[in-house]
Amino acid sequence: MNSRTASSNGSAPVTPFVHEGFAYGCDYNPQQWGPDVWIEDVRLMHEAGVDLVAINIFGWCDIEPHPGEYDFTTLDTIIELLHSNGIRVNLGTGTSSPPPWLTALHPEILPVSDDGTTRFPGGRQAWCPSSAVFREHALALVEQVAKRYGHHPAIALWHVSNELGCHNALCYCDETAAAFRLWLQARYGTIDALNAAWGTSFWSQRYGQWSEILTPRLTRSSRNPGQVLDFHRFSSAELLDYYRRETAVLRRHTNVAVTTNFMVTAHIRNLDYWSWAGDMDIVANDHYLDHRLADPAIELAFAADLTRGLAQGKPWLLMEQATGAVNWQPHNLAKVAGEMTRNSLAHVARGADGICFFQWRASLQGSEKFHSALVPHAGTDTVLWREVVALGATLDRLAEVAGSRVVADAAIIFSWEAWWAGDGESRPSHAVRYLDQVHAAYTALHQLGVTVDIVSPDADLSAYRLVVAPCLYLVSDAQAQNLGSYVAAGGHALITFFSGIVDEDDRVRTGGYPGAFREILGITVEEFSPLLPGHVLTLDSGARASLWSERLRINTAEVMARYLDGPLPGIPAITRNGHGGGTAWYVATALAAGALRDLVRTIAEEARVTAVGPESAGTIEVVRRVKSTSSYLFIINHGHGDVELPACGHELVTDAPVGRIVRVPAGAVRVIREDPAS
Ligand code: GLA
Repeated sequence: MNSRTASSNGSAPVTPFVHEGFAYGCDYNPQQWGPDVWIEDVRLMHEAGVDLVAINIFGWCDIEPHPGEYDFTTLDTIIELLHSNGIRVNLGTGTSSPPPWLTALHPEILPVSDDGTTRFPGGRQAWCPSSAVFREHALALVEQVAKRYGHHPAIALWHVSNELGCHNALCYCDETAAAFRLWLQARYGTIDALNAAWGTSFWSQRYGQWSEILTPRLTRSSRNPGQVLDFHRFSSAELLDYYRRETAVLRRHTNVAVTTNFMVTAHIRNLDYWSWAGDMDIVANDHYLDHRLADPAIELAFAADLTRGLAQGKPWLLMEQATGAVNWQPHNLAKVAGEMTRNSLAHVARGADGICFFQWRASLQGSEKFHSALVPHAGTDTVLWREVVALGATLDRLAEVAGSRVVADAAIIFSWEAWWAGDGESRPSHAVRYLDQVHAAYTALHQLGVTVDIVSPDADLSAYRLVVAPCLYLVSDAQAQNLGSYVAAGGHALITFFSGIVDEDDRVRTGGYPGAFREILGITVEEFSPLLPGHVLTLDSGARASLWSERLRINTAEVMARYLDGPLPGIPAITRNGHGGGTAWYVATALAAGALRDLVRTIAEEARVTAVGPESAGTIEVVRRVKSTSSYLFIINHGHGDVELPACGHELVTDAPVGRIVRVPAGAVRVIREDPAS
């Protein structure tokens, strides 16, 4: 698996996280239970095949009950219990949530919201990422934990804090403001350069001195977009700096791999994980189905593909998911029978080499008492527990797949910076949201059976037959050039509306939209023409569209479809342009799902993209993992009817040969080790 070459103290190299077959595990919070339950827990972990357990994630108040007084009695016992039973430990540094004594002694570490009010203890993550006092106490704790367990043979992985930035990524306190200024000085060098980047000639905002700059707290009007964008960049970098500091302490005492759990998910966007991923010894992600979305399983596939992108294609860990319902959505749906297995194997299909959950045993108290777990309140005589045990056995049967890679010949460009800037306060339409548009493009490819890599705008695109850039509002010159060179060299690109509009300072590129991509697309957009929600347009191709249109004129492109109605009848809505050896398509509106899928099918065929699976409404998911000696075809049937697909080899879930056709029952998953010739 993923390994970095040397520990930061320059001594022995980091030991990569290696696991036999797939890791199967969970967060374990034994402090909520007594010793009798721990014995039973370990017995049940064996029954389920759980072999990697994350502990001490919220352990601070147990291991440092009073300032500077450490008590490892319980943690020692738990680690020994797990170790003597052959269960590996993913050891939390314990710093995720400060204990009440720390916030009582030092209320200045508490985070401040954008309205200038403090957020208090009583929940979790009540700390400011820039707080020197918090860092001092947290790093002292990490030192103690690392010293004690740095060489313990049970420790397979170190888990820094927990979901860094889940609740506290953006802090607007005065200490953060001071850190923000230092970060800005390093970025811009002079106050004039900052003024130029933020466009402060507008609304009399020009700064004379660094000390005048604040965090972007709430204003009576909209805020300066450059300031807000840089605050996002700073806040992501500040938490990464914090991660690095914990890691540096760990590295003084251990060579075991270190990671933290990312939140590549639909509702959290505060960290630019492209800049974080290289610091992880193995990339790990937490993913929860989001029932506020139209198709949560497709978003799961997207998040898994993005996590693989962050891991640069190498295997990664699913650090958390739920066996059933979560507790934090407005309507927390239980999983239907088989869904937890499908979700898990969808992550595996897309490159995960470990499947872990939050959490082992459902809590009886606290905010998460109605969050599902491997051992539910109802105990083990339950459908859920039986599925947990069955999943462990299935992962064992798939062991040989671990370490293999997913191969894709289509890519979607994804950018946290474009998300932050494009979804800013002052924009042409609040109905256009970056992630919705990315999901729409992804859904089209997914439904066509195409496997997609999710890549950064700086990625090498040369291996792909098709690259899609949905709503890529902000791009640097170098990123625009990257996509342009890809097309010129013979690639096929699809760019959708509201792309290439601004540079990295959120400064509009002049001469007509989409400034950065005008040349490769062979078009000029004179004006945006967003639509009111509910207004549906018709194109002369028969396609339906909504949300957005543009007064577009052709330079060198071909018109593929025009608006029949709406504010711009007769104006081109879809174009295609030859650029160098390649082709760049543009869609100037938000096509209805079916129309977008039809268009993407046309482009994918032109680009000779291989679909791994059949077309479906997302009900059939087919992905191939490959290693030097074999390839594995995952078929996940989310639908209500059985399906039959061509395959030849040996099916690993049911341990049965497959001649020509594999039958996948409704709701089931099949994984075929393919015969070399198939
Ligand atoms: C996150 C956290 C866990 C738990 C789950 C609940 O992923 O890391 O501690 O709160 O959410 O879904």
